[in-house]
Amino acid sequence: MIDLHTHILPFADDGAADLKTALAMGRAGEKQGLTTIAATPHFYYLPDWDLIKDKVESLQREFHREGLGITLVSGAELLLEPNLSKLPLEQIPTYGDQGKYCLIEFSFRQISVYLNQVIFDLQVKGITPIIAHPERYLAVIRDPNIVLEWIDLGCLIQINTGSVLGYFGPKIKETARIMLTHQMAHFLGSDGHNLKGRSLNLRKGYEAAAKILGIEMAHKMVADNPAVVLSGEFLEIDEPLRYKQKKRFFFF
Ligand SMILES: [Fe+2]
Repeated sequence: MIDLHTHILPFADDGAADLKTALAMGRAGEKQGLTTIAATPHFYYLPDWDLIKDKVESLQREFHREGLGITLVSGAELLLEPNLSKLPLEQIPTYGDQGKYCLIEFSFRQISVYLNQVIFDLQVKGITPIIAHPERYLAVIRDPNIVLEWIDLGCLIQINTGSVLGYFGPKIKETARIMLTHQMAHFLGSDGHNLKGRSLNLRKGYEAAAKILGIEMAHKMVADNPAVVLSGEFLEIDEPLRYKQKKRFFFF
């Protein structure tokens, strides 16, 4: 299994507080059967791609020293903002620094008016954006079909294990379920920040997703699809299905 979304890198963001925690997170991942973990710290905490890559290399050395059989891959979780796509290609964090796929999150409460422009600019640079945890965004909870527009633009979609497991509440769990059953999601990621609470729980999320989708589809989301991303190849996806909206009333 491959986790494409983690905050395992110590001293980088609000994730692993120290090296000891990062090593323990790595051990927890290995126990679950993870072979590869992408370190994707929030880029707004540490807006220096070269420094992130150095830190990932040094954590990988620590993993080897500890006998951990996990491969770490450099990445970052980018926040969508207008200046992001203005950066030169080599300064935009992409998985494994291949310039092919990036992880991008949106504001939880409001979808940016710059969305289409930034997505387009990234694509012109040859980068395919993977949208992090859209099931947690207010606009998607209200209307999951918004995700169809993003897929139509050429984006890929990553859902959080915590959402599928209900850790963020019933509305987000239901939105994640709708996205899974309508082929609106391509990856499961733990978005693990620490050892308890928001941990590296990809296997647990996979098992919950397998109950909804079956083992084969769930496996794709934690193994086959992430492997394609890390290889830098083009990912073929299934046509997403439109969700027939029932009347859903949510109060915020
Ligand atoms: Fe994250």
